[in-house]
Parts: sequence; structure tokens; C-alpha cells
Amino acid sequence: MLNIDKAETDKYKEVNIENIFSDTELSRASQILHKAGTEYFVEDGFIRFRFDEVDIKILEEKKDNPVIDIFLGKLRGIRSFSISNGKLVYASFNKDKKVKDKSGNRKKRLAYEYYKKDFPETSNLLDGNIINNIYCADSLVFLKSLPDNCIDAVLTSPPYNFGINYNNTSDVNLWDVYFDVLFNIFRECIRVLKSGGRIIVNLQPMFSDYIPTHHIVSKFFIDEGLIWKGEIIWEKNNYNCKYCTWGSWKSPAAPYLKYSWEFIEVFCKNSLKKEGLKDNIDITADEFKQFVYAKWSMAPERNMKRYGHDAMFPEALAERCLKLFSYKEDIILDPFNGAGTTTKVAKELGRKFIGIDIDENYCETAKDRLRSII
Ligand SMILES: C[S@@+](CC[C@H](N)C(=O)[O-])C[C@H]1O[C@@H](n2cnc3c(N)ncnc32)[C@H](O)[C@@H]1O
Repeated sequence: MLNIDKAETDKYKEVNIENIFSDTELSRASQILHKAGTEYFVEDGFIRFRFDEVDIKILEEKKDNPVIDIFLGKLRGIRSFSISNGKLVYASFNKDKKVKDKSGNRKKRLAYEYYKKDFPETSNLLDGNIINNIYCADSLVFLKSLPDNCIDAVLTSPPYNFGINYNNTSDVNLWDVYFDVLFNIFRECIRVLKSGGRIIVNLQPMFSDYIPTHHIVSKFFIDEGLIWKGEIIWEKNNYNCKYCTWGSWKSPAAPYLKYSWEFIEVFCKNSLKKEGLKDNIDITADEFKQFVYAKWSMAPERNMKRYGHDAMFPEALAERCLKLFSYKEDIILDPFNGAGTTTKVAKELGRKFIGIDIDENYCETAKDRLRSII
């Protein structure tokens, strides 16, 4: 059966079929698939099945259901399956045969210890009056007023230097200047982060300038000694980007690579493990299974006009990040809080929060959104 504890994505087999089924057919198939060891989700008109071992007998008994029938057909076409204890087992699972003594090898390589720095492990308490507030300020200035090691997680998306129409700041600067300003603020974020804390940054590279912002920012955090925990692809499914430069259609001369996704980079201070009380975990088993698969398909925020901000991330993104990487009661910081998506979701999920933005209007919106929570 699907083993969540070893939820590394390369240990799942994925099979996709076109979703030509009614909701009733799909929901009838759902329980049977689950019982047989298969999880699925629907995306972009396809049903994506994920599994390691499949109990084929259970499926065969129910092949009058068209979803099961077509899935069975697909399974039979996979050569790398073998039968074990009456179940179909995908041959590359459980094996690790190709590489022996993985942990010994890891020690030889040093893994992330080769770049990680040691930070003090003590935490400092934040003055209770500071938390659960929105601050209209330059984050560089504001963050300097906080003690070291007092924040559990930073969740943010910085300005991208695209030329977005922010009220108060220019969003077009020399890249040199842009990264200088950003890194000074991120250095402060690292300083105020507790040992074991996480920094989660939503980033979009500037493809048209050929500036891989997500790589440059990741290199920055790694050079500062944080551990790179991983990268999540946020698939937005928006395909309205252009194909090539003028005059080079259908030619290798200058095609554009098209991206319908953004990146979420995750870093840890001192340790990959974050301590917390069991009672303060709020992610469900289904959410955990879904969120650790590091490609998240989510529509962009639909209410940007209403909130008067042109570059928001959706509440679903903040919800996933906070549930997967923080505990209830944790203190969450967003130094580029904009219209306050992070702080709103943090409050809804029982986290404490500090939101900073340089623009007064955005801060007012962020406060309104907090007030809207009952
Ligand atoms: C990409 S937006 C963040 C949007 C936010 N995630 C949301 O969902 O509303 C970046 C924000 O950074 C703010 N900003 C830019 N420079 C800043 C600075 N030095 N200190 C604080 N905020 C800043 C901008 O006003 C803008 O609202």
C-alpha cells in the first residue's frame, strides 16, 4: 500500500488518464482505489493516480466501474510491475538496490553540512505587544528592532523587480541594487529566525531579463549557511505567455521557454527538524500526502482588484505553507506582507504573526482582512 512515511515522490508511480468520467463514476471509484492502495487527484483534465503497491484483486472485482476498468488496462501495460503477495508491485519501489550503504555515502559526502553554518540555539521571547500586528515600515528598519532568534517561520514573496505598480516603491531597479536591498532584509530575517525555524519564499524569475531570481536567492541563503530544504513548483496553469522573439517563430533562433509556474524555496536555520507540540499540528493525513508532493496546482489570487494589490499570492498557498512547515501558536513573519495574505491565513490557522509593508494602503487592507475573521 501507499506508504506515506517514505513519501519521497520518486517512490510513487504515477499513471495519468484523461478525465472523461462523470463525478458519480469518479466518486464511486474513489473508495475502491483507496482500498487497493492508490491515491489520485484531478488536474488539467486528467486523473493522476499515484501508488506503489496495488491490490489488483480488489480492482478486478469492481471493473464494471469505467474508471477502474481503464486504470486496470493502464496498469497491465506497465512492464516494470511484478506480483508480490497477490499484489502488483512497481519494480523500482522498496529496492534501493542500485546504491548500497546510502547513509555511509551520505556521511562521506557530508550532505548539507558542507555549507551549513551553526547558529546559536537559544530563543528569545518577543514582547507580547509586538505580535499579532501589521506594521507600516521599511522592513530593514523595523526588523532591526526585533531581538535575535524570536520568529518561528518567515513566509513571504518579495517584490520581483518586474515593474509592478506598487503604491509606494519603485519596482524597477538595477538588479544589483534590487538584490542588495532584498538581501539586507533577508539577512535580518535570518537573524530574527529561531534555531530550527523556516524561511519560505515565493519567487518568480525574471525570464525576459534572463535573471533566475529563485537561483540567486537560493544561493544567497545557502551562502549565509541556511539549509536548502527544497523547492515547490506552484503551477498556476496560466498559459498566456508569448512563444518567441519577433521574427523567430518555429526556429531555433530565439524561442522563449514558457512558464506557467512560480517557485517556493524553503530554507531551515540550524536543523531540518522543527520542534513543536503534537497538539499544535493541524495538517490532516490527506493534506500531508498532497502537500509533500512538491508540485502544487493552485489558481492565482482572484481578488487582487478588490484588495487593490497587483501581486498577491492566494490564501491557499499560505495555508499549505503554514500547515506543512509550522505549528499552531508559532510566530509567523511576513516582511513583504502586501495586502496581508500571510497574516490573514496565519490568524485563521491559530498562528501568531507580524506583517510589515512599506505602503500604508496595503497595511490598511491587511488590517481589514484580519478584522474580517470572526
Ligand atoms: C509581492 S508583494 C507581496 C504581496 C503579498 N504576498 C500578498 O499576498 O498580498 C511585495 C510587497 O513588498 C512591499 N515592499 C517593498 N519594499 C518593501 C520594504 N523595503 N519593506 C516593506 N515592504 C516592502 C511592497 O509594498 C509590496 O506590497
